[in-house]
Amino acid sequence: MTHTLVYPITARHNDAGHLEIDGCDIVGLAKTFGTPLLVYEEKSIRDQCRRYMKAFAEHTQDFEIIYASKAFSCVAVAQMVLEEGLSIDVSSGGEYHVAKTAGFPAEKMFFHGNNKTRAELEYALDGGIGFVVIDSFQELAMLDGLVGSRGERQKVLLRITPGVEAHTHSYIQTGQVDSKFGFGLDEGVAMEAIRQGMAAANLDLIGLHAHIGSQIFELEGFRRAIEVLVGLIVQANKAYGFECRYLNIGGGLGIRYTEEDTPSPISDYAAVKVEGVREEMARAGLPMPRVLIEPGRSIVGKAGITAYTVGTIKEIPGVRTYVSVDGGMSDNIRPMLYEALYEGMLANKAGAPADTKVTVAGKHCESSDILIRDVALAKPEPGDILVMPATGAYCYAMASNYNGNPRPAVVLVNEGQARVIIERESYADLVAKQRPLHPGN
Ligand code: LLP
Repeated sequence: MTHTLVYPITARHNDAGHLEIDGCDIVGLAKTFGTPLLVYEEKSIRDQCRRYMKAFAEHTQDFEIIYASKAFSCVAVAQMVLEEGLSIDVSSGGEYHVAKTAGFPAEKMFFHGNNKTRAELEYALDGGIGFVVIDSFQELAMLDGLVGSRGERQKVLLRITPGVEAHTHSYIQTGQVDSKFGFGLDEGVAMEAIRQGMAAANLDLIGLHAHIGSQIFELEGFRRAIEVLVGLIVQANKAYGFECRYLNIGGGLGIRYTEEDTPSPISDYAAVKVEGVREEMARAGLPMPRVLIEPGRSIVGKAGITAYTVGTIKEIPGVRTYVSVDGGMSDNIRPMLYEALYEGMLANKAGAPADTKVTVAGKHCESSDILIRDVALAKPEPGDILVMPATGAYCYAMASNYNGNPRPAVVLVNEGQARVIIERESYADLVAKQRPLHPGN
């Protein structure tokens, strides 16, 4: 099989010439569960969690790996990362609800977002959420009030925008000055946030947070963000006696979507983040804080593949051949939104040479609904099972019902067993919340 680096760890082609993941034949799964189908390999998810835990433990005893559940918010996966010792980051009341349903203890939950509503905050406070990452002055005041009216005290971090531009697609950069997120450093904004956070009667300001972007290959941006954060900590320490006990430096580690991608290993990422904090804090003569990171994509991205059934094949002589599949932008918007590149293969022809150049199109009524431009496949025919690897992060999470397409089923494979962790939506689900114009029909 070609392209093994972008597939889950146990992917291989079996004696039937099919793609198999951890003992499960993908063609068989497509038959049993239908397509489009998302298949996650349990081993890949657990393996990434363990790599993170091990890599950070090599540098410090005081750290926390927080799964950014926005990458794939799902009860079964939340339970898996909890079993692996991770904490969880939720960015809405809905993600909080999923984590809570999964049985996540409140003290391992971090609540993010630039516009958390009062209702969302109240819901999270009802459950005793461990940490709120405050994004604005309005939120700071609102949360202080809400917590106070309950006679409680809430641990909080402040989200800082360090003014560092990550090398990634501009839509997924978040640390630059012109960002909707967090408190910027210019004109003393972040300093003022720290002052207000410390002064707030019902908030316990335990630390700072920064996330500079996603799908980042070069680690130097993280190092610069740490320098900037520690500079701020030093300033606030001098001015207000601020003690930063928790330093959360976000997620962002990139993954391999295509053979050309060159992500950094988790071990290097851990070294840059922890040793970066250690060096900067030591230079400032301040104690080492607890180091927190929030990986999302790199936990689940490579664990997932999407299987589609090939339908229409349209050859435009001298131009290109469109191979249409039974999903597209409603289950993977990333190629259209971020110009994301993917690999592909035919699961039922895994052993055959990939000698036919085609363009894989979705089934939606839009010309932009192209999943992969110019990919080499074994000669495609209707009924083939086309697989796109590395679809585990931000695909189901951003799925929609566009064009009335029910969201796909999601199965988890492990040691030859496959089980549904999210059922396929039905047509009935599509209208379940709708009400007729005339009552009674
Ligand atoms: N922490 C915060 C505050 C975040 O905003 C994010 C991602 C993460 C952690 C996790 O970052 P990761 O380790 O996954 O890079 N939909 C886009 C990605 C958006 C990322 C949003 N924030 C995509 O499909 O590429």
